[in-house]
Amino acid sequence: MTDKPRKLRSAQWFGTADKNGFMYRSWMKNQGIPDHEFQGKPIIGICNTWSELTPCNAHFRKLAEHVKRGVFEAGGFPVEFPVFSNGESNLRPTAMFTRNLAAMDVEESIRGNPIDAVVLLAGCDKTTPALLMGAASCDVPAIMVSGGPMLNGKHEGRDIGSGTVVWQLSEQVKAGHITLHQFMAAEAGMSRSAGTCNTMGTASTMACMAEALGVTLPHNAAIPAVDSRRYVLAHLSGMRIVEMALEDLRLSKLLTREAFENAIRANAAIGGSTNAAIHLKAIAGRIGVPLELDDWTRIGRGTPTVVDLQPSGRFLMEEFYYAGGLPAVLRRLGEAGLLPHPDALTANGHSLWENSKEAPLYNDEVIRPLDKPLVADGGLCVLRGNLAPRGAVLKPSAATASLLKHRGRAVVFENFDDYKARIADPELDVTADSILVMKNCGPKGYPGMAEVGNMGLPPKLLAQGVTDMVRISDARMSGTAYGTVVLHVAPEARAGGPLAVVRNGDWIELDCESGRLHLDVSEDELAQRLETWREMNSKRNPADVSGYRNLYVDHVLQADEGCDFDFLVGCRGAEVPPHSH
Ligand code: FES
Ligand code: MG
Repeated sequence: MTDKPRKLRSAQWFGTADKNGFMYRSWMKNQGIPDHEFQGKPIIGICNTWSELTPCNAHFRKLAEHVKRGVFEAGGFPVEFPVFSNGESNLRPTAMFTRNLAAMDVEESIRGNPIDAVVLLAGCDKTTPALLMGAASCDVPAIMVSGGPMLNGKHEGRDIGSGTVVWQLSEQVKAGHITLHQFMAAEAGMSRSAGTCNTMGTASTMACMAEALGVTLPHNAAIPAVDSRRYVLAHLSGMRIVEMALEDLRLSKLLTREAFENAIRANAAIGGSTNAAIHLKAIAGRIGVPLELDDWTRIGRGTPTVVDLQPSGRFLMEEFYYAGGLPAVLRRLGEAGLLPHPDALTANGHSLWENSKEAPLYNDEVIRPLDKPLVADGGLCVLRGNLAPRGAVLKPSAATASLLKHRGRAVVFENFDDYKARIADPELDVTADSILVMKNCGPKGYPGMAEVGNMGLPPKLLAQGVTDMVRISDARMSGTAYGTVVLHVAPEARAGGPLAVVRNGDWIELDCESGRLHLDVSEDELAQRLETWREMNSKRNPADVSGYRNLYVDHVLQADEGCDFDFLVGCRGAEVPPHSH
């Protein structure tokens, strides 16, 4: 046991012939582990977000088994451990509320345990950033294996996409175009296999971001969950992480500023979710890479969206994989000189460009040529102005082009309950040119910054055939949603941002071209309103005074800062803590 290479941190648990080594080994042996498994092998943690309450990750026990096969084959010893699993579909008030809790769980689980390197099993939206955030704060060698998307949804003879079809059908049922029976019959057709949402929603976006950041093997993002090649990728990732442990290929060597710039460019090309702006910022913050909201404008704007997937386009993740997946997109970008840093290192030891320069591309409809894009300028639009001094975002590819420059009168909802109570009122003073404004749905206000920003249109306007209106809030929106929706307004209303004092009838100007979001009231008037707001809102919401919610509201950062907790930002490394006895 003494000839174990010192650089393996697990040796500080299992590598000594004393009282402590006895304890660490003996208790592990109750699982039937023979002595030789402790002899100098890299111990590979498999960080698993499996849960039956996170349906998108419910197949992860099987995924973990294939990772283990690869780890054993390469001479490592795998240890699987669970972490908090925050599933998007069931968890209230929103899985975002517990993203940082999960990240904290991941970080402390890695640092406190005999782990030399880690495989991160993530799938559903928030699990991917949570695992990358936690592992980045430890800066250990890590590779991510995503769960993969569900097969295409099937309903009434056509393909339907996760989430996106929910928004579409719920509008159609409200407008009286389909029956409630038809609406509910689509449930089973939409989710008919293991896996994550099959649209280019947040889960697929974050899987693509992980691949573009270089923390996965090539093709990780798109292989369907039930395709046997997903399990081959898990096996190969298990083999590779053992080498990474021996090479000491830590996350800080992969998650560089260059990698984030590549990811931002890739996000524009795939038509990715607005949520990526928040999550990438949070991950960057953990590894100490500077990243600003304006980087999305500088690096992303002008990049064509070439991936024709819902919600912006037509197809689903199955077609994306069969068309060539993310490596084909990266090849397309690289050949046009649009990959900012082709030499960025990835988990397999090769550069991003080495991994993608010969990637086959099988379908020009799904991954379109750069000169026939789905959207000519696919980057996120970052907006600023007196209504959003610290920024807001809009996804032009999911919006209506004619509304990207718009002046309209505000119809204000004080919170989501107020919106639900009044939106269907036939007397609501609203026209198609109005701007729907919703407050108190931000990180502190909701709390958790729920995905309610794409608030449904007034039924009376839907019945007239109105399909889109400008909407503004401090909320987020599901990556599967669409519309001319201004999101992530910072500072949020609950934190005293100007959004808090917008009144019914105020004129608002939106101009995506110049990145302007302006409330048309005088500076004096705005200052006066904010002063009055502060006087009336000094008291804390009684619901926020205890429990995790108290911690959350006190420490969550605003959207432009990634909504991490202030005390979790930064890399704390993985120095081995003192013995427990
Ligand atoms: Fe889990 Fe969409 S709800 S990936
Ligand atoms: Mg989602």
